[in-house]
Amino acid sequence: MQLGVRLKQVLHLNMSKKRVLSGIQTTGSLHLGNYLGAIRNWVEIQQDYDNFFFFADLHAITVPHDAKVLADNTLKMAAVYLASGIDLSCSTIFVQSHVPAHSELAWLLNCITPLNWLERMIQFKEKAVKQGENVSVGLLDYPVLMAADILLYDADKVPVGEDQKQHLELTRDIAGRINDKFGKKKQSVLRVPEPMIRKEGARVMSLSDGTKKMSKSDPSDLSRIELLDSPETIKRKIKKCKTDPVKGLTFDDPERPECHNLLTLYQILSNQTKEGVAVECQDMGWGQFKPLLTEATVEALKPIQDKYHELMNNQEYLDSVLREGASQASSVANQTLARVKDALGFLPPL
Ligand code: AMP
Ligand code: TRP
Repeated sequence: MQLGVRLKQVLHLNMSKKRVLSGIQTTGSLHLGNYLGAIRNWVEIQQDYDNFFFFADLHAITVPHDAKVLADNTLKMAAVYLASGIDLSCSTIFVQSHVPAHSELAWLLNCITPLNWLERMIQFKEKAVKQGENVSVGLLDYPVLMAADILLYDADKVPVGEDQKQHLELTRDIAGRINDKFGKKKQSVLRVPEPMIRKEGARVMSLSDGTKKMSKSDPSDLSRIELLDSPETIKRKIKKCKTDPVKGLTFDDPERPECHNLLTLYQILSNQTKEGVAVECQDMGWGQFKPLLTEATVEALKPIQDKYHELMNNQEYLDSVLREGASQASSVANQTLARVKDALGFLPPL
C-alpha cells in the first residue's frame, strides 16, 4: 500500500515534464569534447525537462585512480557544470557516491545481466586492452552501474555522446529484461529510456589525429583543449595541431579528417551555420584559419572560466548545492530502488 502511494508520487513528478538524466566521469579535467558532446547540450535543453545531472565518481575508480585527487576532481567538475550554465531551478546536480542507491541497484541488475552482454561492450574491450593484467571487475561492470544510474530516476531521455550509445542500448535491454521477468500484470518495473544524441559536434576528434576521439586518456596534452586552458595555451595547441598540406578548407572530405574536425569546432564555437563556415573558409589556408579558430575558442570559453573561478572561491555555496542535490536525488532514487526490490521479491525492511 505504502509502495503504491510512493509510486504515484514518482509518476506525478514525471507527468508535467519528461525527465532527463546524464552523468560525467570525474576523471581528470574536462575537455572540449565533454563540453560540446555533453554539458553544452544539457544546458541548451534543460528548461524543457526535469533534469538530473551527476558526477560519476564511482565510474572514475573502474580504472586505477589516484585517491589524492578524486575528491578535488569531483568538486572542480561541479563548479564547471554550474559555470557552464546548469540552472538549479530545473536541474538537480549531485555526486554519484553520495546516493548509495546507485551501488545497490547496480548489484541487483548485475544478477540479472548475462555476462556475455558485458563482454561485447566496445568501451570495455578498448579500455581492457590498455589495462593489461590490471583489468578490474568494476571495468567490466561499468555499464551495469551506468544502467542503475539511469533507471533509478525513471529517465525518459539520456543525452550522451555517440560513444555511449552502446551503453544506452544495454540499459534498455536490462530494463526490458527486468520488466519481462518481474513486471506484474503488464505493469513495468522500470522505465525504458531513450538516448539523445546530437549530430553536430557529437564526436569531437583529437587535435593530433582527426580519426581519434578527443579524450582525457590520451597521453598527449596537445591532443585536447581543456575547458580551463588559458588563452595562451589554447593558441599554442591550435598552432601545433595536425593539419594537411591542401589549401582551401572543406567539410566532409574523408581524406581530410582533421580539416572536418577543425571546421566543425569553429562552426560550433562561433555559433555559425555549416554553410556559412563552408563559404567563409573555402579559399583559406591554415595560417589564416588557425587564428580564427583560436579566437572563437577563447571567446567561447571565457565566460565559463570566469564563472568557474568565482565558484571555486565560494566553497560554502558549492557544498550546499551538492548537499541539496544529494538529498533531492536520494528521495527519487530510493523510491525506485524500493520498487525494484519489491518486484524482485525481497523482504521489506522490518
Ligand atoms: P568521458 O570523458 O568519457 O567521461 O565522457 C563524458 C561525456 O562527454 C560523455 O557524454 C561522452 O560521450 C562525452 N564525450 C567524451 N569525449 C567526447 C568527444 N571527444 N566528443 C564528444 N563527446 C565526448
Ligand atoms: N559513462 C558515461 C561516460 O563516460 C558517464 C556516465 C555514467 C553516464 N553514468 C551515466 C552518462 C548515466 C549518462 C547516464 O560518458
